[in-house]
Amino acid sequence: MLTNLQQQPADALLALIKLHNADPRADKIDLGVGVYRTGQGDTPVFTAVKAAEKRLVETQDSKAYLGPEGDMGFVTALMPHVFGREDPTTQGILQAGRIEGMQTPGGTGSLRLALAMVKKAQVRRVWMGVPSWPNHAQICADLGLELKTFNHATPEGAADIAALRAAVAEAGEGDAFLLHGCCHNPTGIDYTDAHWDEIAGLFAGNKVLPVLDLAYQGLGAGMDEDAYGVRRVLAAVPEALVAYSCDKNFGLYRDRTGALYVMMADAAQLPAAMSNAHALARANWSQPPDHGAAAARIVLEDKALTAQWLDELDTMRERMRQVRARLAAAGKTGGVDLTPLGGQNGLFSIIPFTPEQVQAMRERHGIYFAGSGRINVAGLTVGNIDRFIAAVADVTG
Ligand SMILES: Cc1ncc(COP(=O)(O)O)c(C=O)c1O
Repeated sequence: MLTNLQQQPADALLALIKLHNADPRADKIDLGVGVYRTGQGDTPVFTAVKAAEKRLVETQDSKAYLGPEGDMGFVTALMPHVFGREDPTTQGILQAGRIEGMQTPGGTGSLRLALAMVKKAQVRRVWMGVPSWPNHAQICADLGLELKTFNHATPEGAADIAALRAAVAEAGEGDAFLLHGCCHNPTGIDYTDAHWDEIAGLFAGNKVLPVLDLAYQGLGAGMDEDAYGVRRVLAAVPEALVAYSCDKNFGLYRDRTGALYVMMADAAQLPAAMSNAHALARANWSQPPDHGAAAARIVLEDKALTAQWLDELDTMRERMRQVRARLAAAGKTGGVDLTPLGGQNGLFSIIPFTPEQVQAMRERHGIYFAGSGRINVAGLTVGNIDRFIAAVADVTG
């Protein structure tokens, strides 16, 4: 019976890793894989996380099951960073106990759970700006959710608020909207604060359910700045889901560390909603992996380690800002303009290469990135950025 299964297309990014690995050129550049890299090209374990892991190994006296909700100490300790300790926008919600969370296997697990809840709650359709992270559409398809799309960005490189406005007007009550909280993947183009103010009103006025994906908090403009949209939307609507990933901002990628937060109109409605989230988790992975969340909890519960973690995050963000500033300073490069990359956020941006130009970047210059033209700016360093800019000029000129 298993021979009924049809061959699936290879994951394009995994295929790209293979191509890059097989390239013998010493000065090849990998801008494909979605992880942060230092100026030396490494993806190290955060010092704060290393210290927490050491403490964890020394003090953990059991690995007995925790339950489908995972490490609730982690989930609770993360909340002030996501929703704001003293942010007047969300203070009322927190004081009323309207938000509850649970640990999930990474942001992907959180999104899977959020969208499974959406499905179970009989939401008719999920709306999403495109292009988006490919797994969003994949999860919706796997769950049998109808996906409706609208343009995320204008050809000029701004967030397309008019497209979102039109989508909300067409959607109406009973539909869900899946939005990136910050550091949009793949475009790097985020809604501005003024856009978020409008979006919050649009969602509230049209009774749609927001599903907010916050996978890169702290990698854009800052921890509070990157949560602006999430907090504004939550303050305006009765119900929302927030899918959170610690895999980037704690560098925990393979430890699969994330959380799902559920906001209800009334705290009394939370037990029923969370019982569904727990049951769905039980049927999917039973319990999330412990290690990453336990390490993050230790960081978050310790003032000095929290300060160190935030410091390390500042360094990452600053480095990406410098790379973006250097690209923007190159301005018009061959046939493309790199200026907009300076104002974009997070790990990713799209350069409008043709498929032939993507191919030429690989073959002539040993520079690897997705066929969509999405580059990981953290793959650029003082040592290779000039060569990258020259290569862009060469293939697009
Ligand atoms: C937009 C977005 N959401 C969610 C995720 C999930 O991250 P993870 O499952 O690695 O925590 C990613 C990862 O690349 C992402 O880009």
